[in-house]
Amino acid sequence: MYEWIKALHIIAVISWMAGMLYLPRLFVYHCEAEVGSKQSETFKVMEWRLLKAIINPAMIVTWLAGLYLVWAGHWYLSGWFHAKLTLVLILSGVHGFFSRCVKDFAADRNRRTQKFYRIINEVPTLLMILIVICVVVKPF
Ligand code: HEM
Repeated sequence: MYEWIKALHIIAVISWMAGMLYLPRLFVYHCEAEVGSKQSETFKVMEWRLLKAIINPAMIVTWLAGLYLVWAGHWYLSGWFHAKLTLVLILSGVHGFFSRCVKDFAADRNRRTQKFYRIINEVPTLLMILIVICVVVKPF
């Protein structure tokens, strides 16, 4: 059972991360589109669908499967798990922030620059690298 849930966890993680890496890229391109243009309206639909159909459900499955693994594997006292949990909480916060950005774009009230989205684009990548090192290498 544990191995099956771990497989599910990894599948959900891949989907979550795919969305978390792609969504800020869409924001970068969306900044270039004029408000009210056909292109801007298309980006709105793409961002909304990516968030609702992939990123949100994938995050929920990742969390549920991950919490099962912690419980079944008795990992709650391990140092690597505490580090991973902290990083995953930050990642979930970034997810919440992206969700707000989607709403801002949808209402044509984005005030953030393209440069800002280019920089924030790197945050999920950095977090993912650290999270995978924590759980695979288990350095502490
Ligand atoms: C949402 C909260 C999360 C919790 C509670 C959680 C917890 C866990 C636990 C307890 C394991 C089992 C470790 C083992 O059997 O050795 C695991 C496996 C794994 N997790 Fe997570 N995880 C979460 C999110 C993530 C995220 C966001 C990523 C990647 C970005 C990730 C990547 C992995 C990988 C790659 C494995 C397999 C490690 C292996 O088999 O060596 N997890 N997770």
